[in-house]
Amino acid sequence: MQTATTLDMLRNALAKLRHAGSTVALVPTMGALHEGHLALVREARAKCDHVVASIFVNPTQFGPNEDLDAYPRQLAQDSAMLEAEGVALLWAPTLEAMYPDGFATTISVSGVSEGQCGAARPGHFDGVATVVCKLFNQVMPDMAFFGEKDFQQLAVIRAMARDLDLTRPHVRDIVGVPTVREADGLAMSSRNRYLSQRDRAAAAALPRAMKAAIAAIEAGEDVGQALAALKDALLGAGFDRIDYAELVDSTSLAALDSVNCVPARLLVAARIGGTRLIDNMGVSIKGQYQQA
Ligand code: PAF
Repeated sequence: MQTATTLDMLRNALAKLRHAGSTVALVPTMGALHEGHLALVREARAKCDHVVASIFVNPTQFGPNEDLDAYPRQLAQDSAMLEAEGVALLWAPTLEAMYPDGFATTISVSGVSEGQCGAARPGHFDGVATVVCKLFNQVMPDMAFFGEKDFQQLAVIRAMARDLDLTRPHVRDIVGVPTVREADGLAMSSRNRYLSQRDRAAAAALPRAMKAAIAAIEAGEDVGQALAALKDALLGAGFDRIDYAELVDSTSLAALDSVNCVPARLLVAARIGGTRLIDNMGVSIKGQYQQA
């Protein structure tokens, strides 16, 4: 596996990788890799000839009081994991390579980026959209792979790519890969490592309460009541605060109060012991849509 840290190195390495008819996948990450990331790499390997993974802890998607400095950085370990998975090229740009002096452009996707995490983390999705647009332009992948765990992020990236004409023929497909979960159902996340032993055990209440809410909604219970019960269950289990718990249209992310006619998704963000956890699951419309 080659590693590139500057644009020149990346372009040289990509030129060597690409040959007539070969396809290149991009798996963007911020490092601190876990099984969820490796699932993206495996899916990318199954679909494309070469996989380029990026590791860049993107400062522009962290708010002033967020965990940028504390965010886990373990490049050597991550690099070994990617190499073992058959990644051809690691793009690990320096801060200067990604945001040279004078950098002055921000991409802001209205609509899908405004509610849920966008409301709780102002500017976060501008940072994500801007860096992912740059990654697409730098690597020009045939396909790019993102976890459905960050469901709103995926919606924002799809909207950005559509609006800026980055899709076909440039990035032919943006693929969402189902969330990988721990044995007790907690969605894998680089931030789970911040949880104390006690909070880690309590955190399993999140997927449990979500499944209970989905079962209630699918059984025809009032959505408001099901969401209220979900919040009570989380607070009762030791969560400190619920940022949001919403049933939304899977594409527009607009809030729904019933699941009558559009694919729906339950999105939740909640805080426990100073760590903010997010999760989402599909909700069937009269048995038509499968839960992730
Ligand atoms: O999901 C992430 O790890 C990041 O938000 C991404 C997509 C790599 C952009 O920095």
